[in-house]
Amino acid sequence: MKALILSGGRGTRLRPITYTGAKQLVPVMNKPILWYGIESLVAAGLTDIGIIINPETGEEICTKTGDGSRFGAKITYILQTEPAGLAHAVKTAEAFLNNNPFVMYLGDNLVQDRLDTFIYQFNSECLDALLLLKQVPNPSAFGVAQVTADGNVTTLVEKPKHPKSNLALVGVYLFSPAIYGAIAKISPSSRGELEITDAIQQLILDGKYVKANELEGWWLDTGKKDDLLEANRMLLDTSLVKMPIKVEGRDSQISGRVQIGSGTTIVKSVIRGPVVIGHNCRIENCFIGPYSSISDDVTLVGTEIDHSVVLQGARIEDINCRIVDSVIGQRAHIRTTLQRPKALRFLVGDDSQIELV
Ligand code: DAU
Repeated sequence: MKALILSGGRGTRLRPITYTGAKQLVPVMNKPILWYGIESLVAAGLTDIGIIINPETGEEICTKTGDGSRFGAKITYILQTEPAGLAHAVKTAEAFLNNNPFVMYLGDNLVQDRLDTFIYQFNSECLDALLLLKQVPNPSAFGVAQVTADGNVTTLVEKPKHPKSNLALVGVYLFSPAIYGAIAKISPSSRGELEITDAIQQLILDGKYVKANELEGWWLDTGKKDDLLEANRMLLDTSLVKMPIKVEGRDSQISGRVQIGSGTTIVKSVIRGPVVIGHNCRIENCFIGPYSSISDDVTLVGTEIDHSVVLQGARIEDINCRIVDSVIGQRAHIRTTLQRPKALRFLVGDDSQIELV
């Protein structure tokens, strides 16, 4: 069985962060979202992985992620020249997939469940498609499935205005080669995309065996700022282990589950976990509160921050007010001379400069 990760697309919902970078590379707990998907596939024994990339962000994804050896996998990059839909991405990958069954994984999704049990079900029941579902309060934001009591899928609708169930399609699908024939029969939707939901509906119409199974653990689509922060919170809560602190930390208090990378200096600061801080950062006169992920090469001086994600090389200085619920882009620079504003909330793109004076 092969695996196909979709990391092309537009990334419009996470702008401005995604004006300059791939949304699948935005870090959650200091690791690109995409890498969690790769690790999950490898943990389920799938090591022949294709990654769909687009012309704008593809190079960055290839350079950062590499040939797969760091994950114990072999990665093949497949260029999709336009974001023409999830089914179009599968079509683009046909030569790589080479008539094999495969797991399709959306590169901006995080799924807690292990994939082994779903792969076992798919193989042992000889299915043409196995869809993973999760009950959600806002089904209109997703593909929505209707399923019989024994798990057979009857209908699928992409982002319906009036959803017929609360079962959202999670971004992980298992397909037999029958999916290629179904894709060949569908046309672009009203938004101009070849929809995977239409292709699966076509499988059902053709009398193929399409089942669904509900996830037990959490699932997050990191497409928007708040989803990204929630994913960061969830991972820090469930996966961060306390490490012995080996950094230079003068006059500082560090408590709870905290990880700090090498070359980072902490001076006169308070850090309350769960918090992860990358390598070569400078933290001085700061409070860093729970659910914060600070990437490599970040400078924080005279800053209070919690429940936030700060990307590589950002600099925040002399903010006399706590920064909360924020995502700060790579190399962004924020400083102020204002005395005690009430609250500050940011989604700051890469290379931005903000001065509050
Ligand atoms: O997150 C789950 C949802 O993902 C499902 O419930 C929906 O049924 C499914 O259509 C999808 O909806 P999104 O609107 O979230 O899809 P998005 O455009 O964000 O694309 C998902 C991933 O696929 C993302 O990593 C970008 C990539 N992609 C997308 C398109 C349209 C491609 O690689 N090529 C494409 O042409």
